[in-house]
Parts: sequence; C-alpha cells; structure tokens
Amino acid sequence: MAATIKDIARESGVNISTVSRALNNGYGVNYQTREHVIAVAARLNYHPNRIARGLVTGRSHSLGLIVSDIRNPFFAEVARGAEDAARAGNCDLVLCNSDLDADKQMQYVQSLLEKRIDGIMMNSVSALSREQQAQLAGSGVPIVLLNRPASNHTFSTVCADNEAGGALAARYLLGLGHRKIAHLTGPRQHGNLSDRAQGFVRALQAAEHQEQPVVLRGKFTFEGGAELARKLLDEHPDVTAIFAANDVMAFGVAHAAIDRGLRIPEDLSLVGFDNLQFSVIVHPPLTTIHQPKYEMGSAAVDVLLRLARDKGKQIPEHRRLGVELIERQSCMEPRAGLLRASQRA
Ligand code: RIB
Repeated sequence: MAATIKDIARESGVNISTVSRALNNGYGVNYQTREHVIAVAARLNYHPNRIARGLVTGRSHSLGLIVSDIRNPFFAEVARGAEDAARAGNCDLVLCNSDLDADKQMQYVQSLLEKRIDGIMMNSVSALSREQQAQLAGSGVPIVLLNRPASNHTFSTVCADNEAGGALAARYLLGLGHRKIAHLTGPRQHGNLSDRAQGFVRALQAAEHQEQPVVLRGKFTFEGGAELARKLLDEHPDVTAIFAANDVMAFGVAHAAIDRGLRIPEDLSLVGFDNLQFSVIVHPPLTTIHQPKYEMGSAAVDVLLRLARDKGKQIPEHRRLGVELIERQSCMEPRAGLLRASQRA
C-alpha cells in the first residue's frame, strides 16, 4: 500500500497539517522538523497524490496540447518546445491529435477540463463553430491558439509571420527569374496557410510583368502535396517553380515530380515552409522558409503559465515570431524548366 500523509504524521510524531506544510515548503515549520518529516517521507517511499492536491489547490500542474496531427514533424518540434517549457514550469504536457475534426477536438477539450487541466494550447480552432468558441472562452481555463493570426481577440495567439514567409518565397523565386510559378496549399479557412498564400500572391502581384500565379488547394500532407503536383503538372506543364505551403507537402511534390521523370531543380524549382529537420536530408536538400517551431511551443506555454497565474486578468497576448528563407539546393534559374515545357508542347 502506498504511504499517505497520515502514515508520515504517525511515524514522525507531528500532526497532518505540519507534515503537509513541511512537504510543501509552507510557513511555520522549523528547519529540524521539516528535515525530519522529509526523511520519514523518503523512508516510507511517499509520493504526493496530485489528484488530491489538485482538489485543494484547484491546479493539476498539467497543460493540454491539441495539434491536428503529430505525424507532421512540425508539431513534434512544437511539442518538444512546449514540453521543455512546461517541465521548467513544473507541469506535465498531455498531447491530443484532433485531425482537424471539430467534434473530436471538443471531446478532447472536455476531457482535459475534467482532468482540471491548467491551460490548453490548440492548433485547430478554425474548425470550431461560434458556439464552440464561446464554450471554450467560458471554460475558465486559459487558452492559447497556435498557428493562428491575432485576429481572434478572445484567445491569446502564438504564430509565425506567415505572410512575410510567403512574400520571401515569392521574391526569391522571382529573383531567380521564374515567372510561371504555382502555389500548392491547404483549405482556405486554415488561417496560417491563407496568410502564407496572401503574402506570396501579393509579392508576385507587386512585381512587374508577373503573371497571376496558379494556386491549388487540397490536403496539406505528403499525399496532398503529391496529388496537387500531379494535377498541376497535367494542367499547367509550363510552370517552372512551386511554392508548397509546408515541407511535408513539398516532399509529396518532389515524389510526384520524380515519378514523372522530372528533376529538381533542373526541371522544377521547389520551395517549402517550416524547415523540418528532414528538409536537410532529402535529395536535393530543400530550400524552405524557417519558422521557429521549438520556440513557438515554448512561447505558447509561457503565455499559458502567465495566464494561469493571473487568473483574474485574462488579457490576451499575441506573439508573432519571425521567419527566414533557408537556401539549399532545390531551386535554380528556370532555363531548364522552360526547355522542358517547350519540348512537351
Ligand atoms: O498546420 C499545418 C502547418 O501549419 C504545419 O505544417 C506548419 O506549417 C504549421 O504552421
């Protein structure tokens, strides 16, 4: 049987309240008594019952992280940053995958609230109805939205400067001389991806003599990238460069292009977004927009812990982290791409 606080009180000859204050660094316990109680607790192999303590303090010292799908390595890095920051703040992290399914997401929220979670970080609130958002806001638990722009004033947000990232990709490809450029991305309601698309399209439109880019939307996964690339290559064989909305989509694009006998970058230039660790080891190494994933996770926990501490003052905080273009070997000037198109025509 696990030792309880009562056992420690009996063994150490002090009352339960003194044991509790000694173990929790509380007031009014002298040094010798505290050391004695701690020694008895160690001898009895005592572990505090967090659930019982949570009932008293109203805190569980755990935070929830709801992502769309941890299989996207982007979220693994965000989760790692969040976990390290949570641990530094004496909290555990509970991970949930929503699959962007609003019902599943709300079931997780409910279950986390029942566990008296201290705060929730969510990646995918855009799929929630107004009613569900109101429910979340009324839960009394701090919420931080990850990857969402600051337009939502009810909740705090942490995201990268997605619009600037899209513009960086556009200017880079223009600088190499590309004019027939496509963007493959996810659903319109996915705020961070839409910001990337907007930055990209605006930067292209600002350039002289630039044709309208082709923008195709689908799933923002490896399979989604491959599927959109096949459609693009069928319908627009003259495209010489692709900006994929994230790295896993870019890997799918590369897979589809290679299947068609195309070479990257000789026949098709490719830019991704995220700067996953894998983007260095794929062939050719992927030019991509870096977003600070680990830092985003730790920033979200930082905001959450502050909100959890200042329970009375739930003033939303919005943090936007900078992005940069990492140039590797998946892009070159479009001469070969144009040649390929003319050979096909
Ligand atoms: O939600 C999917 C995407 O959004 C990730 O790949 C990453 O780019 C994130 O910002």
